[in-house]
Amino acid sequence: MNSRKPQTPPPACYAQTIPGLEQVASDEIRDRLGGEILRTGQGLVVFKVPEITADLLELRTVEDVFLFAWGSDQLSYRALDLDWIEKWTKSKADWPRMLALHHSIRTKPKGNPGYWLVVQQSGKHVYQRQYTRQALARGLGQAIHPKWRVVEENADIEFWLTIEGTQAICGLRLSDRTMRHRTYKREHRPASLRPVLAAAMARAADIQPGMVILDPMCGAGTLLAEARLMVQSNGKGKVRLLGGDVDAEALDCARLNLRTMGGGTFCRWDARRLPLAERSVDRILCNLPFGMAYGVGENLGQLYAATFMEMKRVLRPNGLGVVLTSEVAAARQAALVCRLSVAGSMRVRILGQPATYLTLRGV
Ligand SMILES: C[S@@+](CC[C@H](N)C(=O)[O-])C[C@H]1O[C@@H](n2cnc3c(N)ncnc32)[C@H](O)[C@@H]1O
Repeated sequence: MNSRKPQTPPPACYAQTIPGLEQVASDEIRDRLGGEILRTGQGLVVFKVPEITADLLELRTVEDVFLFAWGSDQLSYRALDLDWIEKWTKSKADWPRMLALHHSIRTKPKGNPGYWLVVQQSGKHVYQRQYTRQALARGLGQAIHPKWRVVEENADIEFWLTIEGTQAICGLRLSDRTMRHRTYKREHRPASLRPVLAAAMARAADIQPGMVILDPMCGAGTLLAEARLMVQSNGKGKVRLLGGDVDAEALDCARLNLRTMGGGTFCRWDARRLPLAERSVDRILCNLPFGMAYGVGENLGQLYAATFMEMKRVLRPNGLGVVLTSEVAAARQAALVCRLSVAGSMRVRILGQPATYLTLRGV
């Protein structure tokens, strides 16, 4: 007879991502971790994995990962919610087990840990965020040792509660800021792409080892960095990176950001006249100029058409381009003119503004 105690399954996890990327993130969770998706919401994926390991922190299309404590979609907007938040926090989660799992992934703090409570709240609730935070703190009273200290910076442990309208989700944060910001990003540029979105675009481009990857408007080089990391984490293969920009300072940033991960070839150019041979590139990734910073007074339609014409020229047969813009109509029109077909599109929200990435293929 087997006398070993059956192991209780690990708690569920949840991840926060950019709104619109829930499906992409779910696919990555399934592919990379063998995870089972339990539900998705705006910018949220709740899932189960067979085991809680540091592999959770290797996900590239999510910004934060948490151990799930409790969730509800029945908040009432009224003060009564605060009682429920306290009660659920006190009784619905196995905090000691969650903290042990947290310490198995993140370094266990020496002595009394410093902790922090993060409350995100949007909606017309009658109670303000500070009262929600107090309710969370009261509920956690039994999990936190009285000697643990509240610290505003570099907390060892973070308890998060995110409320959107009637929905609430509470958990223990496993990730830190490097998951969202990455460690390679030393230099930032205005309009620099969020790495998670760059990773989603790299996934859409189906990048394989041995490919030549081009970003004709590379800015700080985020797309190229994510393209390389995607291939390295999948199969340890290599890709060749080509980046260019009209702005010399942007190129300096890109060179610096890529330096620690194998570099690339960078060149100052106008994307409308690329110094590259016909059919020399397998994949193109590009965050096109758009929006307030670039759109005013410029004819984006013409810029897109001239850039797409060059993209089509340098792409190999079966090549793919993935381009991001908020000016989707202008991009679709330019694709039509240049005889590039739109093989896919994904709508996302960046800082509340809609944008779309299109997957383009030569016809
Ligand atoms: C939206 S930003 C790209 C940001 C980049 N993906 C990143 O994460 O930093 C657009 C970039 O296009 C560059 N750009 C604009 N017009 C260009 C052109 N005609 N040729 C090459 N680069 C251009 C700008 O200098 C800027 O760096």
